[in-house]
Amino acid sequence: MRDPQIGEILVQPDDLKQKVREIGQQISADYAERDLLLVCVLKGAVFFLADLMRHIDIPCEVDFMAVSSYGSETDSSGVVRILKDLDRPIAGRDVLIVEDIVDSGLTLQYLLRNLGAREPASLEVCALLTKPDRRKVELPTRYVGFEIPDKFAIGYGLDVAERYRNLPYVAALTDE
Ligand code: IMP
Ligand code: MG
Repeated sequence: MRDPQIGEILVQPDDLKQKVREIGQQISADYAERDLLLVCVLKGAVFFLADLMRHIDIPCEVDFMAVSSYGSETDSSGVVRILKDLDRPIAGRDVLIVEDIVDSGLTLQYLLRNLGAREPASLEVCALLTKPDRRKVELPTRYVGFEIPDKFAIGYGLDVAERYRNLPYVAALTDE
């Protein structure tokens, strides 16, 4: 796709494939004999989730949650609203939150508190990307794909104003 808004590539398609496979294998080993429920945060994490699940070779289920964080286009405020809640209760289950990117960490902090209050047997986080320089709250993230620099990222699920989710790589958004 030729588009001046698509800048430097931050993660190449082959590196995404390789990493997603590794994380899937690790999850399969860690959650063998457990009751794994993946909670995918819409919409950005859908692409990661779909690839990741195909590398998980133990029984698992998936549910979806949609949240919106008040704030500007590129900065979340930490005030989170649930747009779509999970279909089913999670009490007693081994819940793994699947996120596209951890930026300030405020959305994830909210999710950990909200889901934690529902008394899952365990609650962990799997994030494809993290921007450590932007972090406002430190959170335990059990699985992380790639650390990226403090740039607004698009592609492989990540959007700006709902566009560019379909790119097969992660790129930086230019200011053009
Ligand atoms: P946080 O609450 O600041 O950690 O932001 C989390 C959410 O903001 C992510 O789940 C993304 O939907 C969105 N987000 C944060 N950084 C980026 C980015 O670089 N590109 C696209 N979306 C982002
Ligand atoms: Mg978004």
